[in-house]
Amino acid sequence: MTAAHIAKSLTSTVTLNDGVIMPLFGYGTYKLNDNKQETEKVVLQALKCGHRLLDTAQFYKNEEEVGTGVRKSGLNRKDIFVVTKVWFTNMGREKCIESVNESLKKLDIEYIDLILMHTPCKNGKSVETYTALQEFKEKGLVRSVGVSNFGIQHIEGLIAAGCPLPSVNQIELNTYFRQKEIVDYCRKKNIAVMGFSPLAKAKKGFENEVITSIANKHKKSVAQVMIRWSVQNGFITIPKSSREERINENADVFDFSLEETDLAAIVSIGSYRC
Ligand SMILES: NC(=O)c1ccc[n+]([C@@H]2O[C@H](COP(=O)([O-])OP(=O)(O)OC[C@H]3O[C@@H](n4cnc5c(N)ncnc54)[C@H](OP(=O)(O)O)[C@@H]3O)[C@@H](O)[C@H]2O)c1
Repeated sequence: MTAAHIAKSLTSTVTLNDGVIMPLFGYGTYKLNDNKQETEKVVLQALKCGHRLLDTAQFYKNEEEVGTGVRKSGLNRKDIFVVTKVWFTNMGREKCIESVNESLKKLDIEYIDLILMHTPCKNGKSVETYTALQEFKEKGLVRSVGVSNFGIQHIEGLIAAGCPLPSVNQIELNTYFRQKEIVDYCRKKNIAVMGFSPLAKAKKGFENEVITSIANKHKKSVAQVMIRWSVQNGFITIPKSSREERINENADVFDFSLEETDLAAIVSIGSYRC
């Protein structure tokens, strides 16, 4: 991904290394599972706000509500891009197949746009699991196969086994945690970089003086500066909020740009996990 892939609006897209076209901006759904009706409502709000990418996972226990939101939205299925993930307890061929079939059933949206291995396997079954995911692609039930939380050695493991390159690597990326080495590696390999927790999960990051002063200068919120940083780095960006006003606020990041001095000030904060 290069500067050419900086999202200009909620509907900007990138062509992945397998030819699949994916939105560059979307809506994260982790921890949206307290109440089924509320989750469904908030997913519909995100789509109404203009989001066309929804990021869920088997682990989030909300695939049913995400799928219902997609079906109730009145939008064409092909205009919404749904990402889900296989949890680490379902690695290995048999469990993986069972898990994806369950996700397909819960989502009930004909096909999954992008399936990710949620984490690398600790039991040496990464290649086996990844190969099982490719079979779903061959059957047309999944359009694209990627990974999440993979380091260089994990991707090299897939390559060494002769697997096709993942289309996407979804990793934690925000103003505080920039993971330059794996980002540079993915870009060299033409693997799209999808950043999760762009708001650093709203932990201590919201009180940072550097980000606050950048936000004041641009008359934007701290959240908007953090999201803009992710967008401007060319990452596929998926902030989560359960509140309508914040969903709208988080999507309103296309009318300003961080300056070189802002980007340098963010680097000067250091790189650490909040
Ligand atoms: N692959 C992985 O292993 C992995 C791991 C983590 C996350 N993810 C994905 O990435 C998505 C985003 O990451 P995340 O959910 O961890 O964290 P995040 O998007 O960095 O932050 C979400 C938190 O920020 C709050 N928030 C949202 N907008 C705000 C605003 N404008 N002002 C103040 N607070 C705001 C939310 O609270 P409210 O909801 O109350 O607004 C929530 O507590 C997830 O939902 C999930 O789809 C993937």
